Amino acid sequence: MALLEVKDVTKNFVGVVANDHISFEIEKGEIIGLIGPNGAGKTTLFNCIVGYHKPDHGTVKFNGKNITGFKPFQTNREGIGRTFQIMSISGALTVMENVMVGSFCRVSDTRSARKGAFEIMNLLELEKDADARLTELPIAVQKRVGLAMALATEPKLLMLDEVAAGLNPKETEEMVALLQGIFKAKDLTLFVTEHVMEVVMPISQRIIVLDGGQKIAEGKPQDIANDERVIRAYLGEKYVEDRKHRGSI
Ligand SMILES: Nc1ncnc2c1ncn2[C@@H]1O[C@H](COP(=O)(O)OP(=O)(O)OP(=O)(O)O)[C@@H](O)[C@H]1O
Ligand SMILES: [Mg+2]
Repeated sequence: MALLEVKDVTKNFVGVVANDHISFEIEKGEIIGLIGPNGAGKTTLFNCIVGYHKPDHGTVKFNGKNITGFKPFQTNREGIGRTFQIMSISGALTVMENVMVGSFCRVSDTRSARKGAFEIMNLLELEKDADARLTELPIAVQKRVGLAMALATEPKLLMLDEVAAGLNPKETEEMVALLQGIFKAKDLTLFVTEHVMEVVMPISQRIIVLDGGQKIAEGKPQDIANDERVIRAYLGEKYVEDRKHRGSI
């Protein structure tokens, strides 16, 4: 049985079909990338899975249980954690307090929440920033705090939306290495979106591609990189014709 099963999920906004009958499965222990140009529908699909949006059509199953229409706190309780493309971390709280917010999804006493938060902060090398306020920290550290908050909820499936947005190439490389470390240490399943292909290509076992709300491809990274529809979605018609002309597709 797949850990996550998305079947025929459709989400309409006024004048836009943001997700058009999307279906796929994720097995336990996989790292899956979700890519697509700006506006392809990646964040909407995440929101339909975690319950920020209710799909207009289709079902979402997690661990065999139908969770379609569950609220975010309910999907979180089932074991789905997510980070946000636009960070929703409180600048008024310290790093430690923000991570403890995550821990409180699993435990109710402060002592256990603090212990859980410490463990995660250790893993993400955030101990020295424990008492800093978010607004005082560079974006790369803020991203790690977002990751720590999601991990503190002890997810089985961790969904990361635009994990490298705003990071420079060196910080992006460090983030990819960090994700690989966490994946091994925490027995996780990862579902990662990016509109920059280079970030998810090296870590994903399988890639799902959206364009204009539709799933246009799914497969191994090397096959996706050479898929004509994917190249067209990213680089346009002219690029595809030029490459065909040169015989490289
Ligand atoms: N709350 C909303 N109300 C109306 N339209 C929306 C809403 N959220 C998303 N959309 C539209 O749905 C489409 C898909 O948007 P979405 O944010 O899911 O794309 P994305 O793939 O995450 O893009 P990006 O790479 O820029 O993050 C876009 O046309 C967007 O304008
Ligand atoms: Mg998005």
